[in-house]
Amino acid sequence: MKEDSLKDKVVIVTGATSGIGESCARVFGEAGARVAITGRNQEKLDATKEKLAAEGLNVLTILADASVIADNQRMAETVLSEYGKIDILINNAGISMRALFENLDFEVFHKVMETNFWGTVYATKFCLPSIIENKGTVIGISSINGFRGTPARTAYTASKFAMNGFFESLRTEVMKKGVHVLVACPGFTASNIRKNALTAHGSLQGESPRDESKMMSSEEVAEEILNATLKRKRDLTLTTQGKLLKFLNKWMPGRLDHIVYNQLKKEKDSPFH
Ligand SMILES: NC(=O)c1ccc[n+]([C@@H]2O[C@H](COP(=O)([O-])OP(=O)(O)OC[C@H]3O[C@@H](n4cnc5c(N)ncnc54)[C@H](OP(=O)(O)O)[C@@H]3O)[C@@H](O)[C@H]2O)c1
Repeated sequence: MKEDSLKDKVVIVTGATSGIGESCARVFGEAGARVAITGRNQEKLDATKEKLAAEGLNVLTILADASVIADNQRMAETVLSEYGKIDILINNAGISMRALFENLDFEVFHKVMETNFWGTVYATKFCLPSIIENKGTVIGISSINGFRGTPARTAYTASKFAMNGFFESLRTEVMKKGVHVLVACPGFTASNIRKNALTAHGSLQGESPRDESKMMSSEEVAEEILNATLKRKRDLTLTTQGKLLKFLNKWMPGRLDHIVYNQLKKEKDSPFH
């Protein structure tokens, strides 16, 4: 990747104190962009800023909860006042959950939708005027769950399907204005998402039920997202397993129900018996 491929571009990455978001901040920063990052925790933001500074990258940190409308407005205003424009918004902030729907509290379902889906809607709304002006890019970090449901992940799957629908509609709406909309669907990626996933009543799962060492790294995912951004691709599906799921879901969705069920049943502490 050319070091100056994003020279003078301004990028916002929501939820960038960990995982894919942090890696996007690094990879887009290394490509020459001026980067602003958000998160809900000032200490984690400061630690991420320090870590990236040690690698020679200076990022602007904004304490902002993706699920709060006013925080998204302040995020966009802060970046516009500091950097004068927004070229690329990476809607990355996200949480997951794991519980059977029959046991799942509505509050947990709402929290996942408010962070993953509504957070994306709010951030996109406030950043879009500047992105249109600069013929920039809006990116949604969706998931394989954005086109294929997974049992015990109803709220997460619903939030990602909603993101995909929102962006498909928006893409066509802004295409004549020169705005690029990318929906990135990572497969299993090593990160904190499963550790921080919510249980049926909203407590943190605390550990990953899968072997994180066998997953794609967040740096690889971020490199793929940068590449797709530069090529102005409309979507990106990652991992061999993710691509296979997309294919099987199109041609044999009923058979895939059983394959997915059996795979998820093998997870540690699976709710299926
Ligand atoms: N890892 C995977 O296997 C995978 C696969 C497909 C898609 N994805 C998607 O990739 C995105 C990033 O996930 P990840 O795997 O990198 O998880 P992660 O390591 O848990 O990182 C999630 C990030 O989102 C932030 N965040 C969570 N809720 C937020 C909120 N309300 N407002 C602002 N920031 C918030 C967290 O920061 P704070 O806690 O500091 O607020 C953290 O920086 C998510 O949208 C996820 O759905 C992940």
